[in-house]
Amino acid sequence: MNLYDVYSLYNVTPVMGKGAYIHDDKGIKYLDFYGGHAVISVGHTHPHYIQTIKSQLEKINFYSNSVQNPLQHELADKLATLSGLSNYDLFLINSGAEANENALKLASFYNNRKKVLALNNSFHGRTSAAINVTHTGRKHQAPINHGADVTYCPFTEIDSILNEINTGAYTAIIIEAIQGVGGLDMIDPLHLQKIRKACNKTDTILILDEVQCGYGRSGDFFAFESSDILPDIITIAKGMGNGFPIGGVLINAEKIPPVKSRLGTTYGGNHLACAAGIAVLDIIKEENLVANAAHMGILLKDQLVELPMVQSVKGRGLMLGLELEFPISEFRKKLIYDYHIFTGNATNPNLLRILPPLSITENEISLFLDGLRKCLKSIPNS
Ligand SMILES: Cc1ncc(COP(=O)(O)O)c(C=O)c1O
Repeated sequence: MNLYDVYSLYNVTPVMGKGAYIHDDKGIKYLDFYGGHAVISVGHTHPHYIQTIKSQLEKINFYSNSVQNPLQHELADKLATLSGLSNYDLFLINSGAEANENALKLASFYNNRKKVLALNNSFHGRTSAAINVTHTGRKHQAPINHGADVTYCPFTEIDSILNEINTGAYTAIIIEAIQGVGGLDMIDPLHLQKIRKACNKTDTILILDEVQCGYGRSGDFFAFESSDILPDIITIAKGMGNGFPIGGVLINAEKIPPVKSRLGTTYGGNHLACAAGIAVLDIIKEENLVANAAHMGILLKDQLVELPMVQSVKGRGLMLGLELEFPISEFRKKLIYDYHIFTGNATNPNLLRILPPLSITENEISLFLDGLRKCLKSIPNS
């Protein structure tokens, strides 16, 4: 049977990972500044992560959501402690798209509306409502996906965003505080405050998609924190499981109280996923990884801006975008094949996305910068 052809693949076969490195089947070691697309938060094969999952597997790996599962409560309690958000309910699912799908559904149940406001260059996933609000994926919307009525506003045009919200026609606005796929633009904290106020006035649900920028990646536990607002719904995934498929929806419990059977899932919150999620939170706490992301992010950014052929450095923490003076597609390949460094891309063809594990060290940053410098030098006319 052939695999359904989805991606253009790099010719690398990782067989092992450790910390910030992956090793391929030929024994080549790569520095991972891509984190498997912002997923690897606590590093590859962290001993506590392995041990927690292993010992859970030996007990029970799955049972349905019709019985008690104390691990879900442990995960929720630890998440509340680390994020400082105790007045939210947690609904556990398996991916980022599912998180956004459920968030939009909850919003629509809440105010009985169906129009959604999203922002240009957004990415929220590939399932039906999620792809609908994904500006960067409009060409991938099949006719069956055109269910929701979506308006897109430019990311920085706060007046047009507020005008739309103030019509009172929208069920929700969905925002990435730092855009991932779209190219690392950050929402202005003052804009987010104005959006919060307009949402309050019109009973519009404010959804913050923290699937990529959350879980410490921005240098805060959640990227919206610097705006001093509280969303109605927060969606999470990626770094939450360090590679184990898990996602979550945090729901303002007072505003949107739970209604039985509205949401549901077979696999969401299963024992093994919870074990992975708990181990990640333990490690983030124990190793102070949110502070490390903030500190290493500054260190890295300060040096990236000094590199030749750099147009801008966007983002913060360990979610950075290096905008170069040329398209990065070949450069990214060269980084992998010649310098053994993994990085990511974005919709901006000139932007290299930098998403190392939150546990990255100063030494690994130096190695990354050395490779980057050498690779830049190898470009003609540099
Ligand atoms: C901000 C954001 N939201 C949602 C998603 C979708 O997540 P998933 O691929 O787990 O469905 C992504 C994936 O890249 C993302 O970056």
